[in-house]
Amino acid sequence: MRPNRLLASSTFRYALVYVAMFGVSMVGILAFVYWEAVAVVSGQTDETIRNEIASLAEHYQERGLGQLISVIAERSGNRFGQRGIYLLADPEYRPLAGNIDAWPTVARGEPGWVDFLIGIESAPRPSRQLARAHTFVLPGGFRLLVGRDTTERTELRSLITEALLGALALTTFLAVAGGVVMSRNLLRRIDAINRGSQAILGGDFRRRMPIRGNDDEFDQLAANLNRMLERIEQLMAGMHNVANDIAHDLRSPISRLRSRLEVTLLSPQDADTYRAALEETIRETEEILATFNAILDIALAESGALRNEFDDFDLAALIADVAEFYAPVAEEKGSTVTVDAPTPLAIRGNRHLLSQALANLIDNAVKYGGGRGPIELTLHREGTAAVLSVGDRGPGIPENLRDNALKRFVRLEVSRHTPGSGLGLALVAAVAQLHDAELRLEDNEPGLRVMLRLPVTSAAPARKAKTTSLPVARKAG
Ligand SMILES: Nc1ncnc2c1ncn2[C@@H]1O[C@H](COP(=O)(O)OP(=O)(O)OP(=O)(O)O)[C@@H](O)[C@H]1O
Ligand SMILES: [Mg+2]
Repeated sequence: MRPNRLLASSTFRYALVYVAMFGVSMVGILAFVYWEAVAVVSGQTDETIRNEIASLAEHYQERGLGQLISVIAERSGNRFGQRGIYLLADPEYRPLAGNIDAWPTVARGEPGWVDFLIGIESAPRPSRQLARAHTFVLPGGFRLLVGRDTTERTELRSLITEALLGALALTTFLAVAGGVVMSRNLLRRIDAINRGSQAILGGDFRRRMPIRGNDDEFDQLAANLNRMLERIEQLMAGMHNVANDIAHDLRSPISRLRSRLEVTLLSPQDADTYRAALEETIRETEEILATFNAILDIALAESGALRNEFDDFDLAALIADVAEFYAPVAEEKGSTVTVDAPTPLAIRGNRHLLSQALANLIDNAVKYGGGRGPIELTLHREGTAAVLSVGDRGPGIPENLRDNALKRFVRLEVSRHTPGSGLGLALVAAVAQLHDAELRLEDNEPGLRVMLRLPVTSAAPARKAKTTSLPVARKAG
């Protein structure tokens, strides 16, 4: 991974912002701790000095200057460990007793609080250190200085400063390192997805985004992209099928049409022959249009795009409408259409495609079983399913050929002499799949019974009178 890519990544930038924010708040917290600690220590120093002064004042008041001198001498010797500073001097600032050599220059003048530098005589290594003291003028002009070495305070200050800088450096380092590691990991996963999409753009349509299996956001993104690709592939396959189907089934009838028209034109004929030729042409174009519509309906059903536009409607009403529409055609062939759909049954779906599928089933029943008995349509409810069946008394389809009969352009050998393009049952299968319905071809003993098991919606809508769109008769044959 190139370093400048890493630096330019948004994750790394977020990490830097985080470092900055964290650094500022940490400096704030440490500064607060520092000031508080220094204030406490300073307060303690002043308090100790005040106590010391009180006790010395007591000695002085009770026994006079001599006692004060001996107490100071004693304390100067014993209590250095606690860093007490004492000095008693005459009016000319000449030391009389105490543990510092000379009266500090800054402390000459008005008595009061003073900070100054001292060399401590009995320290292991004599050094100049910071001290704080209070000075007094005693009766007779003698001067007293009582104080403390404040090195502790200074040490504390530098200790806190060091801790602060150290912590800041450590945090910055950790945050930058964390940012690099984090950005690297994230970039790696995004790179994988980028590589995948580039490969797909480059023509490798079977390629899918890698999934790690820990179900994080990247996995979810990859899975969603994969689902999208799957869907696109399906739709592309659908388009491809439509193109193939058109080439397969529409080319020859159109060529046939054209050659017949040419032949008619070649030899001079009378008006009746022309009329007959034109009528034949119209009949054939109708057939071509019907096949064309069937191909488009199948493609529409297979794409699944209509799923978002399903409405709720009463399947019983739809069956009644389609049956009524087909009754005359059946009668012509010597069959009756009976409907047994007693109660309204609401389903969710596409009314046009379901009507067309039902029309195809009735069309088959009339075409292959007409004149051999009634065509029976039934609808009843089984649990959460609406079970629709179309049965006839014709020759039926042998069990081993049933799956095959559902495929596009498949026509059984026995039907060679009846007109048709073999798309009727293919549309029924596509519509069943679109509606998540189960489709079965069964033996009607004798004849064929087609069963369609659709999921019902919970509440049945009010049965609308005759508003169902009527299917267009697909074949005039
Ligand atoms: N009710 C039936 N009885 C007997 N055979 C049937 C029946 N329905 C369909 N078949 C057989 O299944 C084949 C496929 O039917 P399908 O409806 O798909 O096509 P088709 O009827 O031949 O043509 P199209 O429906 O496109 O006009 C038919 O050719 C026929 O052999
Ligand atoms: Mg058919």
